[in-house]
Amino acid sequence: MTTKTQALMNWVDARFPMTKMWDDHMAKYYAPKNFNFWYFFGSLALLVLVLQIVTGIFLTMNYKPDATLAFASVEYIMRDVNYGWLIRYMHSTGAAAFFVIIYLHMYRGLMYGSFKQPRELIWLFGMLIYLALMAEAFLGYLLPWGQMSYWGAQVIVNLFAAVPWVGEELSVWIRGDYVVSDATLNRFFAFHVIAVPFILVGLVVAHIIALHEVGSNNPDGVEIKKTKGADGIPLDGIPFHPYYSVKDIVGVVVFLMFFSAVLFFAPELGGWFLEKENFIPADPLKTPEHIVPLWYFTPYYAILRAIPPIWESQFPGVIAMGMAIVFLFFLPWLDRHPVRSMRYREPIFKVNMFIFIVSFIVLGWLGTQPSTGILS
Ligand code: HEM
Repeated sequence: MTTKTQALMNWVDARFPMTKMWDDHMAKYYAPKNFNFWYFFGSLALLVLVLQIVTGIFLTMNYKPDATLAFASVEYIMRDVNYGWLIRYMHSTGAAAFFVIIYLHMYRGLMYGSFKQPRELIWLFGMLIYLALMAEAFLGYLLPWGQMSYWGAQVIVNLFAAVPWVGEELSVWIRGDYVVSDATLNRFFAFHVIAVPFILVGLVVAHIIALHEVGSNNPDGVEIKKTKGADGIPLDGIPFHPYYSVKDIVGVVVFLMFFSAVLFFAPELGGWFLEKENFIPADPLKTPEHIVPLWYFTPYYAILRAIPPIWESQFPGVIAMGMAIVFLFFLPWLDRHPVRSMRYREPIFKVNMFIFIVSFIVLGWLGTQPSTGILS
């Protein structure tokens, strides 16, 4: 650094802990040496979060949160706004990519026992992020005001009506009307554009503060802080910057290759990223034949539909679906095995991890299929 830049840095450091923050979180943050590709997904999630916020800002400049104008404003973005198609497809592909990344990121946590002591809070913040992300995707999906936007929102908000005693009032309160309407669109827009992103960013900051407090786990599940050299630095640690800041660029490049392939050649991905039905404007008088959420929700949707109503109430299905998420919050206290990484755990653990993937895929697929009832 030249003396002038150093003088400027000293001036800033005397007033704001710039160098200290850089050292604490980058240059002198010691991460385990043995990270593999599964450790790319945290930084990729950060990248996609930024991408969604930036493209979202530009979409908001031309989108109209009004039931009579919303659908046409999205078409206007797609056809007439300069590079509007690019911004919109980046946002829709980004949403799906976000879930791919987050599911892989969470699965890594399961494989290497990263949720275990002392990382319980990293996991809990992560689970809250996951909830917020699902809310964000659901709210955003109403905005184009297509058939699936409308009817998807109708089905999900109706689930709240299954809550005993207060359900009906609750669902009206959420919609702001007796059916999904302009009032619903306005409030979903407000939550999608400002409230939930704000919560998401706050949670991500908390997630990373918690991570940097205890340090990263790794594929072997060993605690690098337990063996330090004479200088107090973990023997198996290397500074995050430059080693992992550079390594993460490899992950970013590979990700952008996949991302661009979808973005430029198959932005709808055969209906998996943008459903065909959603190219038809919302029609409150015409229910689509099959109402199907996007793939990242279909495993839960399959659970919901698999539980038959009791006394004409869908509540048991809602509870079963909710439990599939809630139990993950308690994982650090449910799995008390002293060994962290799946590499050193008993074979049954590996078998279970495999069954988990199979269940996720099979349920996800079943969720996309039309329901046929028990006997037909
Ligand atoms: C916007 C969403 C998220 C972002 C930006 C994010 C970011 C990060 C980053 C940068 C890391 C460190 C790098 C890495 O280990 O890959 C990390 C670690 C971690 N994250 Fe996330 N994360 C997100 C969501 C989640 C979710 C939904 C969960 C789980 C429910 C989760 C659980 C974890 C755990 C357990 C670790 C520590 C892993 C280890 O040390 O082995 N994260 N996260």
